[in-house]
Amino acid sequence: MKLLLSLTILVAAIFVVHGSSVTWGRRKNNDFLLSRQVEVRSAIKNNFWNIDVDFPRADTENYYKISAIFVYDNFKNSTGAVPGLWAGGPGYRFAQVNLRSFENVGLNSTIEIYGR
Ligand SMILES: *[C@@H]1O[C@H](CO)[C@@H](O)[C@H](O)[C@H]1NC(C)=O
Ligand SMILES: *[C@@H]1O[C@H](CO)[C@@H](O)[C@H](O)[C@H]1NC(C)=O
Repeated sequence: MKLLLSLTILVAAIFVVHGSSVTWGRRKNNDFLLSRQVEVRSAIKNNFWNIDVDFPRADTENYYKISAIFVYDNFKNSTGAVPGLWAGGPGYRFAQVNLRSFENVGLNSTIEIYGR
């Protein structure tokens, strides 16, 4: 039990340190790229960014089912925004991805959505 707890904490720590790029779902060979969006924000002193990225964008329709979502942290030094899937995602026709940056650090993340 104690070992399991330690392992869980270790895995959680690794996730936090390298938590800026994530994948949800699985991309199949014949899936289309439905959307690629780059979100860039500059740092704010003593504050962080917390933004919601909606797919499809407002006033557009999406008829495809999402198979996978990739979020890439373009900073590549583990200080980029931590992504969260707040709604929809694989199996749905919509998704809401949240990006939460660290205090005093901006963000530059690419969100790719695949489906068919
Ligand atoms: C964000 O990252 C992309 C991909 O690495 C890069 O091409 C772009 O210049 C970056 N934007 C800013 C404002 O740093
Ligand atoms: C990580 O990279 C970004 C963009 O190049 C930069 O603004 C930030 O200060 C870097 N963070 C660290 C800890 O080096």
